[in-house]
Formats: sequence, structure tokens, C-alpha cells
Amino acid sequence: MDFATRYGPWAVIAGASEGTGREYVRQIAAQEVNCVLVARREGPLLELAEEIRAEFAVECLVVPLDLARPDAADQLIAAIGDHEVGLYIANAGADPNGSEFLDAPVEAWVGLATRNVLTTLRCCHHFGAAMKARGQGGMLLVGSGACYGGSPHLGTYAGSKAFEMCFAEGLWGELQSHGVDVLYFAMATTDTPELRRLLAHLGAPEPAVVADPAEVARVGLERLPHGPIHNWGLADDDPGWAGSSAAQRRARVQMLAQATAAMFKPKEPAA
Ligand SMILES: NC(=O)c1ccc[n+]([C@@H]2O[C@H](COP(=O)([O-])OP(=O)(O)OC[C@H]3O[C@@H](n4cnc5c(N)ncnc54)[C@H](OP(=O)(O)O)[C@@H]3O)[C@@H](O)[C@H]2O)c1
Repeated sequence: MDFATRYGPWAVIAGASEGTGREYVRQIAAQEVNCVLVARREGPLLELAEEIRAEFAVECLVVPLDLARPDAADQLIAAIGDHEVGLYIANAGADPNGSEFLDAPVEAWVGLATRNVLTTLRCCHHFGAAMKARGQGGMLLVGSGACYGGSPHLGTYAGSKAFEMCFAEGLWGELQSHGVDVLYFAMATTDTPELRRLLAHLGAPEPAVVADPAEVARVGLERLPHGPIHNWGLADDDPGWAGSSAAQRRARVQMLAQATAAMFKPKEPAA
């Protein structure tokens, strides 16, 4: 099955205006899949929409929206209407605060958690149900190596990414037999405008190694059928910087699925 048949006719890219999100949009549009572009700033989304309509002859829907709002998923779903979504990419997710937990207002952390956890969860429920019913589709949760453990300045962010990783593993275990691909992509430091803004805000030096956003998006889409996890820069069986390899985590999900199969067996309908 080619990309457009498997993941079309529409893809939703949350966090589409710049960086990796913009690269996902361009690479998905190049595969002739129509795109729903979501971010807070309408200007860059409109420019990108014009660009991909002209370059790839796809349709495009622009949804300016703050995904940290409690009603964000409902607003997004309403804006998409009857368009058939075969691919959902949860890319918006960095931590713009760059501070210790108690040094930022609690609402900043509530917004981050709402965007990364609740909005993502609601979108996966809505889009995932339609994909399962059709027997095809994909959901890519853009993550971070921070998911593997907390550290000072990163508690809320790391916690939200750990949620996304475990959530993706569960979804993968439930949906792979229904033709729906689920991937949590643990990224490393990547050269995005948001990273550069954060480094400037902190007065921090440029990191020695940064990944290219276009290459990151290419790898994310390539690994989508091979969930539930991909760790940036590591082979499937290499634990490397992640501590456990993608293959080990996949085997763990499969082992738990087997161990609990009797407990969760669907009930026979009453005679
Ligand atoms: N860059 C890195 O070094 C790095 C490393 C590991 C993982 N990651 C992950 O990679 C993804 C992309 O990161 P990034 O560095 O590009 O930063 P980002 O802040 O996640 O920005 C990506 C996109 O999300 C949008 N966005 C951010 N907050 C939003 C909100 N509340 N509502 C709607 N849209 C929102 C931004 O546009 P607007 O500002 O217009 O809303 C932008 O288009 C994130 O999931 C992040 O956790 C990044």
C-alpha cells in the first residue's frame, strides 16, 4: 500500500508552523496527502498552506488554535468536520518555560500538560476510532528522550513525554491488529526555531550536536509502521542513550499483552 492510500486522504499536523512540524507537512504533502495545519500563529500557517498547494497540488485547511486550551481538541475536531483523517501527528510539545517548577506560574505547567497529555489523548481517541473503523491509518506522537527520566527544569515536560510514550505503547498494542500504526518518536536535540528561542532566553551556548528537522521528519514517517517506539539515531535493537532499545520495549508490550490476554478477553455475548 502506498503512503497516500495508507495514511490519506487527510493528515492533521498539530504544531505545523515551523521546525519539525513544517517538515512533516511538506513531506506528507509531497506524498499527495491533504493537510490540516494547526498552530497558534495563523500567518506562518497560511504561508505554508499556499506553498504546499502550489508545490504539491494538495488541499489544505488552516486551523489557528492554542492546543493548551481545555477545549482545544473539541475545537480542532469541529474545524475538521467531515474530512477523513488517516494520519495524526502530535508534534507541538516543547517546553518554552526553561525554568524550575516553582519559578513559573502553575498555569504555565497546566498549559503544557493539557497540550501534551489531554489534547493528544482526546485527538487520539477521536481520530483513532475512525481509523480503527476503516482498518487503516497512523498516529505519530512526537516525543523526546526526556521521556526516559526526569531532571531539574524538565519535570513537567519529561512527565508529559513519559505519558505519551506509555500511551503510544498501549495504543500500538490495541490497534496494530486493526491496521492502525502508532509510533512514539523519541527525538534528541533538533535545530528548531523554538530550541533557538529557548537557548537565547537562557543565554545558553549552541549544543555540539543538533539534528536537522527535515531528516527528523523523514525518519519519523519512515519508522511509523514499525512502532511503538523509535529512538533518534539508534537502531531498533540498540539501547544506546535510551537505556532500553525499541525492540526491548516492543517485546515488553507483547509480553504484557499475552500475560493479560485471558483477563481482558472479550466477553461472549449472552445466549
Ligand atoms: N527541538 C528539540 O531539540 C526537541 C528535542 C526533543 C523533542 N522535541 C519535540 O519536538 C517537537 C517540536 O519541538 P519544537 O522545538 O519545534 O517546539 P514546539 O514548541 O513544540 O513548536 C512546534 C510547533 O508547535 C506549535 N505550538 C507550540 N505550542 C503550541 C500550542 N500551545 N498550541 C498550538 N501550537 C503550538 C508551534 O507554533 P506556534 O508557536 O505558532 O503555536 C510550532 O509550530 C515537540 O514535541 C518537542 O517536544 C524537540
